[in-house]
Amino acid sequence: MQEQNNIQEPKKRMLSGIQPSGDLHLGNYLGAIKNWADRVNDYECYYFMADLHTITVRQDPADLRRRSINQLAQYIACGLDPEKNVLFLQSHVPAHSQLAWVLNCYTMFGELSRMTQFKDKSAKYANNINAGLFTYPVLMAADILLYQPDYVPVGEDQKQHVEICRDIAQRFNSIYGDVFKIPEPLIAKTGARIYGLTTPDAKMSKSIPDGCVFLMDSPDDIRRKFKRAVTDSDTEHCVRFDKENKPGVSNLMNIYATLTGKTIPEIEQEFEGKGYGVFKPAVGEVVVEHLRPIREEAERLMKDKAYLNDVYIAGAEKASYIAGKTLRKVYKKVGFYQI
Ligand code: TRP
Repeated sequence: MQEQNNIQEPKKRMLSGIQPSGDLHLGNYLGAIKNWADRVNDYECYYFMADLHTITVRQDPADLRRRSINQLAQYIACGLDPEKNVLFLQSHVPAHSQLAWVLNCYTMFGELSRMTQFKDKSAKYANNINAGLFTYPVLMAADILLYQPDYVPVGEDQKQHVEICRDIAQRFNSIYGDVFKIPEPLIAKTGARIYGLTTPDAKMSKSIPDGCVFLMDSPDDIRRKFKRAVTDSDTEHCVRFDKENKPGVSNLMNIYATLTGKTIPEIEQEFEGKGYGVFKPAVGEVVVEHLRPIREEAERLMKDKAYLNDVYIAGAEKASYIAGKTLRKVYKKVGFYQI
């Protein structure tokens, strides 16, 4: 009995990634990274820069390189401690590409054809509908399954990808036995979805820079973006949460609530009788002050190449160790002759 008390329950494992296809913004931070940082003590966490995924769409090589390393610095500045989380670049761990190939052979053409993101992206990049765009979910399944995580925190838009990952894993397991843990998607509730400041019906995105607050934006840029935030065309001009009819105001309220910890009714009360002219700059100011230390720390880290170097090498080593174990098991199961 005594002995059992000493046996600690292993921590549940969590994994997620963001593509360095654009600079990190408030949507990435509030929807993902901030929650990741808060979970560090309760989970064993793996977070990576999904650089392999970015080339499904053409990238400028110099920009991709710069954004990948800056994203690592910004992850750390947002509170992801590299001593407590495994932080790495996807392309530094070859097992991702290796497992993706195997899983390609256990994924059906039909199920990939039904992916909404593929349909959207092939419409958007009609002159470059490459095979990578089509098999993107298979690489993502490999990213996940290599680490045997319990949970995969993602935005609503990635839920379908986690579902296909589960289907692929189940299919593989049904043939070869319990090789993969079946992961659960984890869709955050508060602050999960931050919309563009100029397009409150679409999620915040780098492709609409006027409505997108980048983590590295200067305070003046942030203030300007909030001043120009789209509110609503209704005549009541009051700060009231109503996602349907007042998406712009509701989005700003959501940002304000997430950063201050205030509830929606408290915010409605705070701004009662004060128009948008008071409300918008107030939200901007809260964002400026919240992002200030993050930006300053990221700027410092981005210059410290030696430190970042140590972090990504240590991260790739730890990740490769875990990923390698799963890959070897898979290779053995499918019948590859072992060295
Ligand atoms: N597809 C994800 C996105 O665009 C990024 C990603 C790649 C990811 N591999 C992953 C997220 C594995 C979670 C787990 O947002």
